[in-house]
Amino acid sequence: MCYAIPAKIVKIDDNTAIVDYFGEEKKILLDLENVKIGDYIYAQGGISVRKIQEDEAEEILKIWQETFFELKKTDEALAKIDQNNLPKNALHVLQNINLRKTIKKDEITTLLDLNLTEERKVLYEVANNVRQKEHGNASCVHGIIEFSNYCQNGCSYCGLNNQQKVTRYRMSADEIVATAQHAVDEYEFKALVLQSGEDYFYDDAKLIEIVKRVRALGVLVFLSIGSRSKELYEKLYDAGARAALLRFETSNSEIFKQLRPGTTLDDRLDLIKSLTKMGYILATGFMLGLPDETTEDLANNILLTHALQPEMYSFGPFIPTKGTALESHQSSSIEKVLNTIAACRFVAPSGNILLTTAMETLSPTSKRDALLAGANSMMINLTPLSYRKLYNIYDNRAGIDKSIEKSIQETTELLYSLGRAPTDIGLN
Ligand code: 5AD
Repeated sequence: MCYAIPAKIVKIDDNTAIVDYFGEEKKILLDLENVKIGDYIYAQGGISVRKIQEDEAEEILKIWQETFFELKKTDEALAKIDQNNLPKNALHVLQNINLRKTIKKDEITTLLDLNLTEERKVLYEVANNVRQKEHGNASCVHGIIEFSNYCQNGCSYCGLNNQQKVTRYRMSADEIVATAQHAVDEYEFKALVLQSGEDYFYDDAKLIEIVKRVRALGVLVFLSIGSRSKELYEKLYDAGARAALLRFETSNSEIFKQLRPGTTLDDRLDLIKSLTKMGYILATGFMLGLPDETTEDLANNILLTHALQPEMYSFGPFIPTKGTALESHQSSSIEKVLNTIAACRFVAPSGNILLTTAMETLSPTSKRDALLAGANSMMINLTPLSYRKLYNIYDNRAGIDKSIEKSIQETTELLYSLGRAPTDIGLN
């Protein structure tokens, strides 16, 4: 739940609080000093991130109120389905799921393999309906800053692997903080993902400094820095980071071994589980369409993501990159991606499902399609343009030339057209 509109604290119990959003009550973790009942705060991923003055909060709520309820109506109308009128032949699976409220592996594979346009249309409509029932029109919009494209790993799918000939860059702590500050002051971001390759130039001390300074801006600090040590992640939690994005990439340990030389799936999963134990809000997931991947592997990827109990599902299609070992392996189809989003929505009705840049790279309409197939979260790239084009995880990445203003404008227009409330960024 990412309604980053001001929430009023109505009850406090040790380190948790009940907050009110236009009459809807939610439980959050209190992660701020000196807050009391009646105060207004912003929360992200169920954690408070910043206190707001009462008059400022009431002003923002006044502006939002009307828009918010208008948007809700649009979203509800778009998400309506006639449960009794689903095509019988195609989607009895959906009816079974609906009755049982659980989904089995063979049902997931059936949904993943649907390819008739009419069947897929119904699949997405039902998934969107589930999203709407669970989340209302809330949509998380986080910012992402890709602060270094150095990586010590040799992953054969990745355009930043240590064998690739790319111009490398590193942003200094001051540059990272200035980029974050601009995102907060100008665009009102409330959650920032700090992403890089696995770059040991940023040692414990450097990362602690960066996390502390970004956290001090009043945002949720979301790390995406790869398989660094548990000790480091612990220190960064203490420094104020509260969320971590770390994909396991594939649930098939054989494929994993081949594509990530020198590392194992077990180690990766062990770290991901530790992050949750440390208290991090977890985002995890996989790539779709890696070589030798079967539909059953894909279903296993979804089920493994679910078993890790993440707050956010982050997955996207593999996309080939020139110069890598997989340069001639084809990316998966947008249909497969959309089916995967919908299947995830049934597996985890209340999860946040991220619409990723790799999805966007596949087709120009994919953002809208993904949001109407069960996805409810987005990220806006805040990396300075001069660096962004060098962060070439894969070729033809969408949005490498797009200004932040343009990205925000397009995102809000899209979300508004679907009745979603992009409350994590300023009202436009
Ligand atoms: N295509 C799509 N996604 C990729 N990633 C890395 N390389 C590729 C590629 N060629 C993803 C990985 C990684 C994330 C940061 O980017 O899943 O976890």
